[in-house]
Amino acid sequence: MNAGMTSALTLSRPQPDIALLSFDLPDKGANVLSRAVLAELDEHLSKLERDATVAGLILISAKSGTFIAGADLREFVASLSAPKSEVVALCRRGQELFRRLSKARFVTVAAIDGICVGGGAELASWCDRRIVSTNPRTEFGFPEVKLGLYPGWGGTVRAPRIIGLGNAVEIITSGESIDGKQAVALGLASDLVPADKLIEAAIRLIRQEQANGAYLADRQRWRQPLEVNPTELGFLGATASAMIRQETKGHYPAPAAALELMLETCGYDEQKALEKEAAGMAELFGSPINAALINIFFLTDRNKRDTGLDRSDVAPAKIQSVGVIGAGIMGSGIAAANLKQEVPVALTDASLEALTVGARNVLEEATYHKKLKGPDPQRAMSLGPLLSVARHQEELADCDLVVEAVVENVDVKKRLYAQLEPHLRPETILASNTSTIPITRLAEGLSRPDRFCGLHFFNPVRRMKLVEVIRGKQTSDQTVATAVAHAKRLGKMPVVVGDGPGFLVNRLLFPYMNEAIELLCEGASMQEIDKAAVGFGMPMGPIALYDMVGLDTAMYAGKTMWEAYPDRVVASPVLPAMVKAGRLGQKTKLGFYSYQNKRGNAQRDAAAEAIVANYRRGEAKFGREQIADRLILPMLLEATRLLEERLVRDVRDVDLGLVFGIGFPPFRGGLLFWADTLGAERIVRMLEPLARLGARMQPTPLLLEMAKSGKRFHAGK
Ligand code: NAI
Repeated sequence: MNAGMTSALTLSRPQPDIALLSFDLPDKGANVLSRAVLAELDEHLSKLERDATVAGLILISAKSGTFIAGADLREFVASLSAPKSEVVALCRRGQELFRRLSKARFVTVAAIDGICVGGGAELASWCDRRIVSTNPRTEFGFPEVKLGLYPGWGGTVRAPRIIGLGNAVEIITSGESIDGKQAVALGLASDLVPADKLIEAAIRLIRQEQANGAYLADRQRWRQPLEVNPTELGFLGATASAMIRQETKGHYPAPAAALELMLETCGYDEQKALEKEAAGMAELFGSPINAALINIFFLTDRNKRDTGLDRSDVAPAKIQSVGVIGAGIMGSGIAAANLKQEVPVALTDASLEALTVGARNVLEEATYHKKLKGPDPQRAMSLGPLLSVARHQEELADCDLVVEAVVENVDVKKRLYAQLEPHLRPETILASNTSTIPITRLAEGLSRPDRFCGLHFFNPVRRMKLVEVIRGKQTSDQTVATAVAHAKRLGKMPVVVGDGPGFLVNRLLFPYMNEAIELLCEGASMQEIDKAAVGFGMPMGPIALYDMVGLDTAMYAGKTMWEAYPDRVVASPVLPAMVKAGRLGQKTKLGFYSYQNKRGNAQRDAAAEAIVANYRRGEAKFGREQIADRLILPMLLEATRLLEERLVRDVRDVDLGLVFGIGFPPFRGGLLFWADTLGAERIVRMLEPLARLGARMQPTPLLLEMAKSGKRFHAGK
């Protein structure tokens, strides 16, 4: 260790022959395996290996709730462009270091309390034994595939040998963690004990292993090839690859690479299997998809730490109770999200029927239990008393935060605020879930506009992580900080956005949706458009999305956007014609597609195609990429306008918003990250042939300036 550096590892002796190596990275919330930490581990192991008095070594973390969260990703990023040979060497060094835990003269045990993932899970896998704590935060997993990688420090070699090939394939290719109980059930962990009993249990285990020598037999066995019969191997390969194809739609290569590797290396001895793992890693590490997924990781990591303000002297107020007005789709989702976190909620609605149905939905959703596939009665007993149903708005007077989620109508909302505000305490925050109406406009007439903001959840609330916190002209920093902190408490990712039509996500989504209709009118078919978008990586195509959102809703939102930006929004007659024909989308089972079949799948519909045909202006033929460019480029141009108008605090908020708000493909790293991979100059060239389409395809001053200077959106982040 370098002189002057604080060490991350501390060695102690709870008993004369037991060594305890405790991980505790100074000034960090979590332990990560940086080069410096690995060097320290190396040094300690060398000393211990020379010490004949050691009978057992326990690896533990001094941080409650985190064992080791993985490798240090900031160091990873620095070597993304490293040559392949260097990547292989990096993997080989890690493998050889950890492997010493399986060769030591003493028994090695990982005592795991809290998160044990990635490199941490690999380190633990190399120990002779693992024990886990009963802490609900304890999890074990290999999330590397989520970064476009697979475990490269021996995880793909050790896991199949310890828990069997099928189980290892499942956890490594899915990237999903298992909890302590599952770890014991799989034979990965030997014991499950309360966190404060881990050391005691580890010592007991060491004594037991020394007495019966079982660990030595396992060491011997795990170095050999795995015995799997060829039929089983074939079956596993076929089912797992089908599942992976379905999950990744061919966009994410890491899970398939991990599967192929494990199917091959399970037949090798440990040494050869490790070499193969390291060689394969060099193909994934530093690839564009790896870089994009690491960007997504950093976007979310930054969001976790972001307070929503650029100053640090404003403390958010603690929200102790929430009122929700409007018990429809969104209001009940928002109420359930609060209730789930045990925040007392008062729900109200102008319609008694809507309130009754809404309250039932709230309870059902808040107490939903995955395994029961329905509400958990026990949870309902504890959460039920926290939900109150209010017949009158005045009953919300005591709430710290009131979220309004009534119909999207300025007059209705304003009237409601005028009646409600006099009943609220001066410090209560009032927020609107509006998806399009500018917050400053809604704040007109309020006596405390500083306590008012937008809190825009996405549908369905239980699944969508993004929340836009919209700052009106007079919204105070304290209001923003409180809204951000509360959204985080609900497990959401809040992004602070300046006021304006469509805010961030809908404003950027709109040009993409608008362009889809234009493509239809020029001659592209609905299927061609949707296939091109899905091929780009979007979760669904824009035409299918119209049907999901509702064509009437989309038409009204379109009107708002057209009024705001008449120069670049085409007011197409297609949507009004569809709405007039009663084709509102999935909700009426007829939209651009028909959903009248048994399974409710989208199917071509001649009547819809006939309506579109009335507005066809040509019969142009488009290639898939051409369509994708037409859809994505207007979205990108709108993003540059948003940046020019300084409506977001950081370019990373744009990428985060689109990935978690509309499912922009994570493997592209976000809209602006994707644009950076092309470069502004190339984008300007891609726009040239589209100039005939008018203002909506014209490069913005920001883009032109970037093309000239060679600057990137994510430069220096
Ligand atoms: P919804 O139609 O499902 O529910 C609205 C509820 O508000 C109804 O139960 C209605 O009875 C009640 N209501 C109407 N006027 C009222 C009043 N004066 N006082 C009390 N209750 C009243 O609508 P949804 O979809 O939940 O939308 C609510 C808000 O959320 C709108 O502003 C909408 O733009 C926004 N939003 C909707 C999204 C969606 O996908 N549906 C997504 C994000 C935001």
